[in-house]
Amino acid sequence: MITLFINGNKETYSGSGEESLLTYLRRDLKINSPKDGCSGEGSCGACTVEVNGKAMLACRSKIKDLDQADVVTTEGLPSNLRQLLGKMFAEKGAVQCGFCSPGFIMRAKQLFKKEDIPKMEQIIKAVNPNICRCTGYIKIVDAIEASLIIHHQNKNNKKATTPEQQDARIGKPYPKYQALETALGNRPFVDDLIFDDMLFGVLTFSEHPRAVVKSINTLNAQQVKGVKKIFTAKDIPGVRTNGLIFQDWPMMINEGEVTNCISDVLACVVAETEEQARRAAELVEVDYQVLEAVTDVHKAVKPDCIQVHSGQSNILETCSISFGNVEKAFNDAAYTSSSVYTTQRIEHAFLEPECAIALPENGKLRVYTQGQGAYIDRKLIAKILALNEADVLVT
Ligand code: FES
Repeated sequence: MITLFINGNKETYSGSGEESLLTYLRRDLKINSPKDGCSGEGSCGACTVEVNGKAMLACRSKIKDLDQADVVTTEGLPSNLRQLLGKMFAEKGAVQCGFCSPGFIMRAKQLFKKEDIPKMEQIIKAVNPNICRCTGYIKIVDAIEASLIIHHQNKNNKKATTPEQQDARIGKPYPKYQALETALGNRPFVDDLIFDDMLFGVLTFSEHPRAVVKSINTLNAQQVKGVKKIFTAKDIPGVRTNGLIFQDWPMMINEGEVTNCISDVLACVVAETEEQARRAAELVEVDYQVLEAVTDVHKAVKPDCIQVHSGQSNILETCSISFGNVEKAFNDAAYTSSSVYTTQRIEHAFLEPECAIALPENGKLRVYTQGQGAYIDRKLIAKILALNEADVLVT
């Protein structure tokens, strides 16, 4: 039995000591301000909490090491500090998606213990372990600095700087909708939502970028306690091939078909808990005939290269841009240069986990997704499930 003090409340834990503090906070205590942005790799900082006065990553802290520990999340911050930090994050525009914000706030909290206002370099160094994938760091550091200045003014009984009046008129800054709640972790992301009797789905992905899926055996996976159902391509009632721009993305690969990449889905395990579903997904047995994969973009564009999607060119699109009289400009130019130019790959790499929740609602299907296009989500889901678009409600 392990005793912890979470935001001042005494809690006793009797499960596996190997479990992380993050799992305990989120799953058992339903405290969702610490976020899971990297599946326990300790690389994003979104789960930062205070443990015995120090900023720690909850995902890397095992419960067995925390007997009698004092744990503080944004919910347990002194209310004046909580409000100040939340307000400054909102006003300085430090909250875009806001998934990282509670972690930054808990990391920044350590700076409020100092006698003097830390210098900008100290603030930057303090928040360095945390990652933000959308706001950029300047506004976050500005928000922390502004909070520290006001905090010290209040502490020294000096008149605190009044933030600029914000009244939504043209030309005046105005905080984003629900930015304060988001900064403090009070506005739930899809991964934070919990419904009664909710089941959990976990996907089995292809192990090979290009292989014939000879067979998919789910018998062992079905034996795992808590497993309710395992779906494969055969269970999709509607159109299986989908896509945002080009309709070339199979939602699942069927037996006898060829995989196109290692993120192709072969099965979806549904179970009572996420742990059960993950265990079972690993037990789905797939027999592959591994084929040569296309892994070089320069070879891929050659006409004799293997086609990733059979019957379709590997060139998705060619784009030509010209302004004015290009031929004349080239002829008149003193020098011309012709080459192949490449840029770095840019992946937005959002911290929020990809997830969705679906539930019946008055004969329709309500879907909570973290996607940004509610209408396109509705269209694609209706197509896969052979439903009318009007019967799919996307939130
Ligand atoms: Fe930082 Fe989105 S606002 S990850």
